[in-house]
Amino acid sequence: MRKKIVAGNWKMNNDLAQTETLITSLKKQTNTSNAEVMIAPTFTNLWQAYQTLKDNAIEVIAQNMHFADNGAFTGEISGGMLKSIGINTVILGHSERREYFNETDELLAKKVDTALAKGMRVIFCFGEVLADRKSGNHENVVESQIKNALFHLDAAAFQNIVLAYEPVWAIGTGETASPEQAQDMHAFIRKTLDSKYGDIVAEDVSILYGGSVKPANAQEIFSKPDVDGGLIGGAALNADDFFAIVNAF
Ligand code: G3P
Repeated sequence: MRKKIVAGNWKMNNDLAQTETLITSLKKQTNTSNAEVMIAPTFTNLWQAYQTLKDNAIEVIAQNMHFADNGAFTGEISGGMLKSIGINTVILGHSERREYFNETDELLAKKVDTALAKGMRVIFCFGEVLADRKSGNHENVVESQIKNALFHLDAAAFQNIVLAYEPVWAIGTGETASPEQAQDMHAFIRKTLDSKYGDIVAEDVSILYGGSVKPANAQEIFSKPDVDGGLIGGAALNADDFFAIVNAF
C-alpha cells in the first residue's frame, strides 16, 4: 500500500533560532490526514530538529549526502554521520543540486546505492526544464533520469525509495504544473516502473509532486490518482501553510 507523504524541503533557510521557532509552530499543528510528514532542515540544524521532534510524528530528514563513508571530501556529510544523529531519510537528486553542483545521474546512482546499503529511505528527485516541456521532450528526460539512476536496482530496493517529480520550471516560480500535467507525468512514471519491475512495484512506490505547491492548489493536485503527496519548498517555511498542505488530502 503506497504511502501519502508531505515533505518540507527547507533548502538553505533558517539558522538555529529560526529552526527552533518554526519547529515550535509545527508541533502545535494537527495532522488531520493520513499523510506521513517530514521536514528537511539544513545540516547544521538536523541534530536540534531531531532531538526536538523525536517524540513527534514529524520525521526529520536530510537534503543531501555524499556517496562515500568518509575521506577527503571537504564540506561533505556521509550517510553514516546522518544515521548517527537519527536521520534515516535523505533527499537526493534535487534539481538545484544537479544544476549548481553538477550532480549527474551516475553520481546520484552511487548516492542512492550508499543510502540504501545503510538502510536509509531515499526521496529521489527528477524533472524537466522548461525547454524540454515546451518541446514535448519531458517524458524522455524524466525516463532517462529515472533509468540512469535507479534501474540498476532490484525490485526490493524500491521499498525504500520515494519518487519526487519536480518540473524545474515550477520550482520556486509560482508556476505550478497543472493537476493534469502532474497526473500525466506520474502515470507515465508508474508505467515506466511497471515496464521494468512489474505492477506490484509500480503501484507501491509513492510518487510526490514538487513545484510551487501551496495551500490553494494542494487539494486538487493531491486528488489525482497517481499523486501521493508533495515535496514542498517555500510553503514549508510557514507552519500554517505547510500543514494546510499536509491536511489537503
Ligand atoms: O524540493 C521542493 C522544492 O523544489 C519546491 O519548491 O518553493 O516551488 O515549493 P517550491
